[in-house]
Amino acid sequence: MGGSLTSLKPNYYLLLILLLPLTLTLTLTSAHKHELPCKHLTLYYHDILFNGTNQANATSTLISNSAPLGSFNFSNFVVFDDPVTSDRLLTSPPVARAQGFYFYDMKTDFNAWFAFTLVFNSGKYKGTINIMGADIIGQKARDLSVVGGTGDFFMARGITTLRTDAFQGWAYFRLRMDVKLYECY
Ligand SMILES: *[C@@H]1O[C@H](CO)[C@@H](O)[C@H](O)[C@H]1NC(C)=O
Ligand SMILES: *[C@@H]1O[C@H](CO)[C@@H](O)[C@H](O)[C@H]1NC(C)=O
Ligand SMILES: *[C@@H]1O[C@H](CO)[C@@H](O)[C@H](O)[C@H]1NC(C)=O
Repeated sequence: MGGSLTSLKPNYYLLLILLLPLTLTLTLTSAHKHELPCKHLTLYYHDILFNGTNQANATSTLISNSAPLGSFNFSNFVVFDDPVTSDRLLTSPPVARAQGFYFYDMKTDFNAWFAFTLVFNSGKYKGTINIMGADIIGQKARDLSVVGGTGDFFMARGITTLRTDAFQGWAYFRLRMDVKLYECY
């Protein structure tokens, strides 16, 4: 009996050594999940599409002239320089501009892909936040990645949650953006 116990011992240690990194990984992962953002900005993005006559008011324009494939704007590509405000009002003084593009990338439903920079150059903040990812329009809340930043947002990393806050056909839409940074310097 004694002999078989000692022969079991090395296996037991081996098991411990094998399991230890696993427990450490699990602890680190769950701790990360409950981390709170180090910065949280709630902003509103206003987009007025150029329709051929509204030069004075439009802030975005379709750049591909080819007819979209199907009925969900698939392949339409829009470049924008949109005002971003801290409340819902389009007439409020912008706190930043959102400069970039989106295109429709799904044939069977409305789905867009965004890549843009939030340029802060007045008021409370100076610097940029770079955001990109899929905007699955059918979902109430969509998470895009914050992939970097400069100035006050140096090395920013996190998530931007988009929610459609107003939609007036192709003329105007407003998004609520919750920018949550998990890395701040
Ligand atoms: C373009 O938008 C303006 C402002 O909303 C509107 O007055 C005009 O009728 C629109 N033109 C077309 C062709 O839809
Ligand atoms: C367009 O802008 C002008 C002046 O900035 C404003 O008076 C007008 O109401 C705006 N039109 C629309 C449709 O937003
Ligand atoms: C989507 O397609 C419709 C119909 O072709 C067009 O009127 C509209 O401008 C398009 N919107 C965008 C953002 O491309």
